[in-house]
Amino acid sequence: MIELVLIGIGTGNPEHLTLEAVAALKSADVVLIPKKEEGKGQLAQVRRDIVNRHATKACVQTIEFDMPARRGSRSDYRAHVEEWHHRVAEAWKQAIGTAISTLGSEGSVALLIWGDPSLYDSSLRISGRLAKEFPLRVRVIPGLTSIQVLAASHRIPVNEIGESVLITTGRNLAATGWPAGASTVLVMLDGELAFTAIEPEGVTIWWGAYLGLPQELTLTGPLKDVRARIVELRAAARSRHGWIMDVYLLRR
Ligand SMILES: C[S@@+](CC[C@H](N)C(=O)[O-])C[C@H]1O[C@@H](n2cnc3c(N)ncnc32)[C@H](O)[C@@H]1O
Repeated sequence: MIELVLIGIGTGNPEHLTLEAVAALKSADVVLIPKKEEGKGQLAQVRRDIVNRHATKACVQTIEFDMPARRGSRSDYRAHVEEWHHRVAEAWKQAIGTAISTLGSEGSVALLIWGDPSLYDSSLRISGRLAKEFPLRVRVIPGLTSIQVLAASHRIPVNEIGESVLITTGRNLAATGWPAGASTVLVMLDGELAFTAIEPEGVTIWWGAYLGLPQELTLTGPLKDVRARIVELRAAARSRHGWIMDVYLLRR
């Protein structure tokens, strides 16, 4: 049977890979590399560098494939994501089909997943769909999430003693405001600067962009004092690099 290994690779630093991830790469027959939309070429390059460094099997083959971009209306978010997952599954299907045509019925196909496959990532849902169509066994190798890298960069614990933590998206924070009962909120996938829309009094932010990459940026302070600076830094970095990924922890 073909084994599809979803390898969490951390957030851009090739040293983020665990020994288990390196071992899985060394034994992979084929590595699939998704290429994202214009401007995010650096992310595909990080994956290529990881393969060049760790995939030692003489016959390792890499197959690059275009990842469909998200598009269209956001009015029905769930339907919009479902439609996008469908297109991603089609792109994976083609790439895996190409791998299987060279491997036959046995072998290991690796996909390098940004951060950890369990967190705001579609790979587990999509591989579940594909496992119904191909005779695939799916294996998951955990990776460092951007949340862990953010906490490490700022040298902070994610939770306060005995307290819970809520992980959400910029879209949710902007739509519903500060989640009731939470003292710590972690925000990912925020293209809408949701931190500028909440009441800043008594809130501290720990922000990080390009964590693990050479251009890493971090900033912390009372939200009311630093939010304008983050907006500025974010815009400048985005226009300089053509893309940005950031994550932040808010504590009240
Ligand atoms: C599609 S999610 C993937 C999350 C990933 N699976 C993880 O474990 O962190 C992408 C979001 O993760 C966060 N992220 C991923 N890599 C990052 C990085 N290097 N620096 C800052 N934020 C990052 C950002 O919030 C970004 O919008």
